[in-house]
Amino acid sequence: MSADVILGAQWGDEGKGKIVDLFSEKYDVIVRYQGGANAGHTVIVGSEKYVMHLLPSGILHKNKINIIGHGVVIDMEALAGEVKGLRERGIKVSPKNLKISENASIVMPYHKMLDKAKESAKKGGEKIGTTGRGIGPAYTDKYVRIGIRLRDMFNPAVLKAKIDENLSEKNFLLKNFYGVKTMTAARILSETKKYADVLKPFMADTTGLINELASAGKKILFEGAQGALLDIDYGTYPFVTSSNPTIGGVMTGAGVSHRIINKVWGITKAYQTRVGNGPFPTEMDEKNGAKTREAGGEYGATTGRPRRCGWLDLVALKYVCDLNGLSDILLTKIDVLSIFSSIKVCTHYMYKGKKITGFVSDGGELYKCTPVYRTLKGWNSDLTAIRDFKSLPAAAKAYIEYIEQYTGVRVSIISVGPERDQILKR
Ligand code: IMP
Repeated sequence: MSADVILGAQWGDEGKGKIVDLFSEKYDVIVRYQGGANAGHTVIVGSEKYVMHLLPSGILHKNKINIIGHGVVIDMEALAGEVKGLRERGIKVSPKNLKISENASIVMPYHKMLDKAKESAKKGGEKIGTTGRGIGPAYTDKYVRIGIRLRDMFNPAVLKAKIDENLSEKNFLLKNFYGVKTMTAARILSETKKYADVLKPFMADTTGLINELASAGKKILFEGAQGALLDIDYGTYPFVTSSNPTIGGVMTGAGVSHRIINKVWGITKAYQTRVGNGPFPTEMDEKNGAKTREAGGEYGATTGRPRRCGWLDLVALKYVCDLNGLSDILLTKIDVLSIFSSIKVCTHYMYKGKKITGFVSDGGELYKCTPVYRTLKGWNSDLTAIRDFKSLPAAAKAYIEYIEQYTGVRVSIISVGPERDQILKR
């Protein structure tokens, strides 16, 4: 049995889509295990750009089985739209190559309303800066056991009872607490049923299927969404998402045993970015931040928001390596750092008057940490045409080796641009 995992080792946006697309050739099955339409996985094939929010990035390849596991929260309108959009562009999406867990929770229209209402009710620094996709409220309902699952969409009596139960609470909150419009069951049904019907042919017992495929010797790739530092349990709480992008999420979100997992690849950019609010110790000053944002095209794939940019935080990266048992690091966007003649990496934090190397995952406390940097030489040359590790400038190799030395994890793959061929394997 052989399954590998690719997960984000930062605050998301590490370039997972591109790497999963590239790796997909070697796998039979690609599985999303958590998150929802808050993710934005971008894949560039020649002159074509694809942005997947819910579909596994393997969908662009022929003869692969793509699975959306039950740990994902499904925005049916977004998913049905993605299926339609890809089909219009000539990509085959059928019940043969796409399976969606019958037990996956649904993001209902009131979840998006609540997400937005909650955020706008928060004051400046308290705002999480969510994507507004209803993720937090949908996971809340799952865990308080009133969530609607994909299977419920096709059981009219259960669906009606669940919508009524939910609306009596949600409408009270929307009207009396947030002072916004309420919803009717009829409107919710009309807004959701048409998309559910589009998705029905893809519905499956994905847990049984994944385990059957694993037993049959098929190669499985688990595709994480968001990043480890946004994990609900291990991220910079409360400035996190509401799922587990970290390794445990694979087991709970796909229904597999840890015994089938072989490699765990962590993807990190050669620098740090963050969208939304929350502590970010290595955030650059305005000038360097803007320079990096432009060079790296750092704008959110889901919301278009400009990403905050910073120097690579090795304290955070080492924490993620240990937490997830990373077997390899995949380093993306090293070409972007060509704009700097010297490059800083954070090796310690100053916290409560002491120099520390352990990550501080509490969001409030992390604000109190000041980064301590080591400055490494830049390489001052374009890397985008380089196709093998040996040809990298000495300073770029030294940068990569420093990351390995600090984390104790090998950097096996380096990307120097967005195209499929701009990948250097070691
Ligand atoms: P939510 O997941 O929409 O609830 O947002 C919670 C936090 O996670 C916000 O700071 C978002 O900007 C961030 N976030 C959610 N999804 C992604 C992603 O795919 N990439 C980067 N940040 C994300």
